Amino acid sequence: QPSVEEIAALIDSQIALEGPLLPILHAIQSACGYVPQMAVPMIADALNITAAEVHGVMSFYHDFREVPAGRHVVRICRAEACQAMGGTALAEATLARLGLEWHGTTANGVVTIEPVYCLGLCACAPAAMVDDRVVGRVDAARMDAILTEAGA
Ligand code: FES
Repeated sequence: QPSVEEIAALIDSQIALEGPLLPILHAIQSACGYVPQMAVPMIADALNITAAEVHGVMSFYHDFREVPAGRHVVRICRAEACQAMGGTALAEATLARLGLEWHGTTANGVVTIEPVYCLGLCACAPAAMVDDRVVGRVDAARMDAILTEAGA
């Protein structure tokens, strides 16, 4: 959990920008890996808006996390080319196997599952990304190996 001083410094670093809310949220998330609950009222105060407005923006843009991600982030492509090649079934089977919804993290904190919209790997659909590594032609067995290797 970051300190109040760290969050205040991150807010300060972006506040002079025009439309500083998104830059502030991005700065906090990239420094901390998520936007901690305690940062929300601080941001609201600094920008003279309500905490509800900060939450509203955070949930509108799905890239902001309210809790830290798992040790590994698995992203499954949900864009058209991958959907047409079995991506939908792959996504459903993966969520079911983990017992998670999108953006969820396994109880052991090991895997977070996120949708992604085109990884530029359409020729090898369906595609996924495991941390920084893209993988193509992911079928159920391949995904199973990925999750087992990650420790999910
Ligand atoms: Fe999935 Fe392009 S649509 S990688």
